[in-house]
Amino acid sequence: MRHYLTVLGLVLLPICCTASFVTDCAALSTLLPGKVFYTNSTVYDSSVKSYYFVEERLNPTCIVRPTSTSDVAIVVKYTADCPSALLSIKGGGHSPNIGAANADVGVTLDLRTLNAVSIQSGGLITSVGAGALWQEVYRVLDTYGLAAVGGRVATVGVGGLITGGGLSAFSPEHGFACDNVVNMELVLASGAIVNANETSHADLFAALKGGQNNFGIVTRFDIRSFQQPDYWGGGVEYTSDSDEDQILAFAKFKDPENFDPHAEIEQSFLYTAADNSRISSNNMFYTKPVVNASALADFTAIEPQLSNTMRISNTTDFAKEMAMYQPADTLAVYATTTFNVSLPALQSILGIWNTSVHELSHIKSLLAVLTFQAIPPVPPASGPQNSLGFTPNSHPERDLVLCLLSNYWTDASASAEIQAATQSLLEEIEAITQKDGVDVRYKYMNYAAKWQDPIMSYGTTQVEKLREVAAKYDPSGFFQAKVPGGFKLSRS
Ligand SMILES: Cc1cc2nc3c(=O)[nH]c(=O)nc-3n(C[C@H](O)[C@H](O)[C@H](O)COP(=O)(O)OP(=O)(O)OC[C@H]3O[C@@H](n4cnc5c(N)ncnc54)[C@H](O)[C@@H]3O)c2cc1C
Ligand SMILES: *[C@@H]1O[C@H](CO)[C@@H](O)[C@H](O)[C@H]1NC(C)=O
Ligand SMILES: *[C@@H]1O[C@H](CO)[C@@H](O)[C@H](O)[C@H]1NC(C)=O
Ligand SMILES: *[C@@H]1O[C@H](CO)[C@@H](O)[C@H](O)[C@H]1NC(C)=O
Ligand SMILES: *[C@@H]1O[C@H](CO)[C@@H](O)[C@H](O)[C@H]1NC(C)=O
Ligand SMILES: *[C@@H]1O[C@H](CO)[C@@H](O)[C@H](O)[C@H]1NC(C)=O
Ligand SMILES: *[C@@H]1O[C@H](CO)[C@@H](O)[C@H](O)[C@H]1NC(C)=O
Repeated sequence: MRHYLTVLGLVLLPICCTASFVTDCAALSTLLPGKVFYTNSTVYDSSVKSYYFVEERLNPTCIVRPTSTSDVAIVVKYTADCPSALLSIKGGGHSPNIGAANADVGVTLDLRTLNAVSIQSGGLITSVGAGALWQEVYRVLDTYGLAAVGGRVATVGVGGLITGGGLSAFSPEHGFACDNVVNMELVLASGAIVNANETSHADLFAALKGGQNNFGIVTRFDIRSFQQPDYWGGGVEYTSDSDEDQILAFAKFKDPENFDPHAEIEQSFLYTAADNSRISSNNMFYTKPVVNASALADFTAIEPQLSNTMRISNTTDFAKEMAMYQPADTLAVYATTTFNVSLPALQSILGIWNTSVHELSHIKSLLAVLTFQAIPPVPPASGPQNSLGFTPNSHPERDLVLCLLSNYWTDASASAEIQAATQSLLEEIEAITQKDGVDVRYKYMNYAAKWQDPIMSYGTTQVEKLREVAAKYDPSGFFQAKVPGGFKLSRS
C-alpha cells in the first residue's frame, strides 16, 4: 500500500487486495473519494444507461468516474496490483459487442468525465479528452469554422472510434481518424502516465492506432484540426426498385479513376421485418460548399426518392441528423468484411443479403442493414504509421469496399438465431469475394463482431509488432488478463 500513500500524499488505512470485487471497490472509494459509484445511485444508473445498446448495460460491482489522468493511473495501479481485480474501460459505450466496455463483475472505468475539448496551435491541433463524444468535439470546432476526422454520428465516443481506426466524411481526404492523431496521453499497466507520438514511444503510438485497449488507457488525444467551411451532405432514401441502380452507381463511384477526396458515402439497404419492407438509404457528403456535387450525382439522380435532406450545413448538424437515423436501445450485432471493388461481387452480396434477411421475417422486431462504404487511402510512408496493416505509399486502398452487416432487434429470444444467421451470411459473402478473387484480409475493428478477429486481419507482421509492443509496455499482461473486454491481442 505504500505506493498509494505516495500517490495521494495521505495517510490511509491499510487496504488489502482480497478476492472480492466488493473490497476492491471499497479500496478504490478510499483512494478516490466521491468518484466511485454503486448500484442504485443516480450516477451509476446513468452510466449503465448510457451504453448505446442494451446488452452492454451490465451491472459492474462499481463504476469509477475519473476527473484526471492521475485518477485513471490510480485505478490501473490498484487493479494491476490486486490479483483478483477486473477492469472494463468505457469511452462512448457504442460497441455492440457484449463485454467490450462493461461487465457484470469488477470495476468499470467510465471515461466520460474526461471530455474536455480545447483548441491548440491556432486551430491546427485540438486536444480531446478520451471520454468525449464526437458531438462535444464538433460543437467546439464548428464555432471556429474548424473540423477534424471523427465519427459521423453525434453520440459516438472518441476513445473507441480512434483506437479502432475511425471512419469519417473527411476520411477519403485525410484517412482514418487514427491517422490524424499527433499525440496520445495514456496510462500504462504500471500506472505510469506517458505521451505516445512520433518522437516519444513511436512503437506504442503506432500500436494504439488499431490496438484499442491492448496497450494502455488513452486519456487524451491531440488530433489534427483544419479549416472547414460548411459543406454539402445529408441522407436520401429510396424504394428497393432502385437496388440495381444503386449498386451500379456505387461500383462506378469506387472505381479508382473516379476517386474524389471530397466525396464520401455510406450506401445502405434496409429490411424491416415488422412490415416486411425494403428500402435503401445513402448518407452522402461532399466536403466543400458545392450543391449537387458531380461525384455524387449518380446517387442523387436516382428516383423515386422517399426523402432527401441534402443541403449545405456544418458537422454538428450533420452528426445530429446521422444520429436520428441510427436505431438505439436495441440488441445489435455488427459484422464486417472488406473486398476490392467489383460490380459482380457487389451484386451477388446484395442478392444473398436480400434473400437471407427475408428468411428472418418471423422476427418481428428485426431491422437488418447492409452497408457499403470506402476504406480510405493510407498515409504516406513518410508519415506516422498505424497498425492496420496497409502498405504505405501504395494507394490500392482507393479500390477497397468495406461491407458492414448490422442487425438490430429487441426480442432477446431471437438473439441466437440472428447471431448465427449473421455469421453464416458473412461466411457466404466471404466465399463470394474469395471466388471472385477480390477478398481482402483487413477487417475494420469497430464494425467487427465478437466472433471475428480484426487484430489478426492486420497480418502476421503487424501482430508480431503488436506482441513486441505489449511485451515492452505491459510485461505482466495486465491488459490481456485483467481487462477482458474488447478484441484481445492474446486471442489473435
Ligand atoms: C450509432 C453508431 C454510430 C457509429 N458511427 C461510426 C462512424 O461514423 N465511424 C466509425 O468509424 N465508427 C462508427 N461506429 C462504430 C464505433 O467506432 C465503435 O463502436 C467504437 O468502438 C465506439 O467507441 P466508443 O468509445 O463509443 O465505444 P466503447 O464501447 O466505450 O469502447 C469500445 C472499445 O474501445 C475501448 N476503449 C474505449 N476508450 C478507450 C480508451 N480511451 N483507451 C483504450 N481503449 C478504449 C473499450 O474498452 C472497448 O473495448 C458507430 C457505432 C454506433 C453504434
Ligand atoms: C436497487 O433497486 C432495485 C429496485 O428499486 C431493488 O430491487 C434492488 O434490491 C436495489 N439493489 C440494491 C443493491 O440496493
Ligand atoms: C450549424 O448548423 C445549424 C443548422 O443550420 C445551426 O443552427 C448552427 O448554428 C450551426 N452552427 C454553427 C457553429 O455555425
Ligand atoms: C511527444 O512526447 C514528448 C514526451 O512527452 C513531448 O515532450 C512532446 O511534446 C510530444 N509531442 C507532441 C507532438 O505532442
Ligand atoms: C440540385 O439538384 C436538385 C434536384 O435535382 C435541384 O432541384 C436543384 O435546383 C439543384 N440545385 C443546384 C444549386 O443546382
Ligand atoms: C430485394 O427484395 C425486394 C423485395 O423485398 C425486391 O424489391 C428487390 O428487387 C430485391 N433486390 C435484389 C437486389 O434482389
Ligand atoms: C482491384 O481491382 C482492380 C480492377 O480489377 C485492379 O486494377 C486493382 O489492382 C485491384 N486492387 C487490389 C488491391 O487488388
